[in-house]
Amino acid sequence: MSRAATARAHPNIALAKYWGKAPGAGNAPAVPSLSVTLAGLSTTTSVRFDPALGADALVLNGREAGGRELARASELLDRVRARAGLACPALVESQNDFPTASGLASSASGFAALALAAWHAAGLGEAPAEVSDLARRSSASAARSVYGGFVELPAGVAGRDEPLPARPLAPAGHLPLAVLVAVTAEGPKATGSTSGMNETERTSPYYEAWVRHAGALFREIREALLAGDLPRLGEAAEASALAMHASALAARPGLLYWTGATVEALARVRALRAAGVGVWATIDAGPHVKALCAPGDAERVASGLAGAPGVLRVLRASPGPGAGLVGAAGPAPAP
Ligand code: DP6
Repeated sequence: MSRAATARAHPNIALAKYWGKAPGAGNAPAVPSLSVTLAGLSTTTSVRFDPALGADALVLNGREAGGRELARASELLDRVRARAGLACPALVESQNDFPTASGLASSASGFAALALAAWHAAGLGEAPAEVSDLARRSSASAARSVYGGFVELPAGVAGRDEPLPARPLAPAGHLPLAVLVAVTAEGPKATGSTSGMNETERTSPYYEAWVRHAGALFREIREALLAGDLPRLGEAAEASALAMHASALAARPGLLYWTGATVEALARVRALRAAGVGVWATIDAGPHVKALCAPGDAERVASGLAGAPGVLRVLRASPGPGAGLVGAAGPAPAP
């Protein structure tokens, strides 16, 4: 007998960046992070545990996936099987409604949707903190996409592989915010986040300084958010992104995620700011620039970014909901 569930989750953008892992197993972050989950864009994932399957299978955007992608999904499924006392393989089908090269991390929405769907397909019931912890073990930023609005993920404790879920901090409506994504390149980035942060930790003389500094930036961003102070939040979020990139740039060889268009878009954000617009930039492990501003300034910021040399298009997003189920489960499978 098979059992299935379908879940939908949305990408998030870190305002206080996660970059670096706490020593030890379990994929716990070395630094606390704070993000905003985005409305509109989503990943929808179905999981079916089925004893008739020979092995786990993964279909990503209509294409059968193998290798590291399948292995990462199977690792998550193994944790769910262990927790639920299940032995049978699963079929995972996942679809993004935004392009992979959109500048928005699909691993965050992808693993949040997979964790929630697998958890419920296995009949484990309502437990968002456990689902967030499960998603975090696959990709730490995914822990945050389990929740909507503004979300924090604490740092882990070195050598202690214990539960570490994200926590909802404020609902989507807490702070009126527009996020404009200046897409500057097509295709996947050269160095993924996982290896990028591992290389930074291994070889960058500035990694320690980043880890020491990130906690203070996180606290500042958290305070500004709770106070509803967008200028303070934006200024500290831009500082967090630039400090993260400074630590990566100092790796050997240096991790340069930026292109000329990244710098042009960043310069455009600063020019708008000099002209009196409340807009700040953040950049993840890729070349795209995400501008943060009040919804009333979104139009002006979007057209400013669209005019920056090398910017291909500008996507608009706003704070949105957490992951949710969209499918009904069938009867429980035999272990
Ligand atoms: C720059 O969550 O993708 O987007 O835990 O190794 O899967 P893993 O890393 P991941 O890293 C995200 C890095 C970032 C900043 C952030 O989202 O906080």
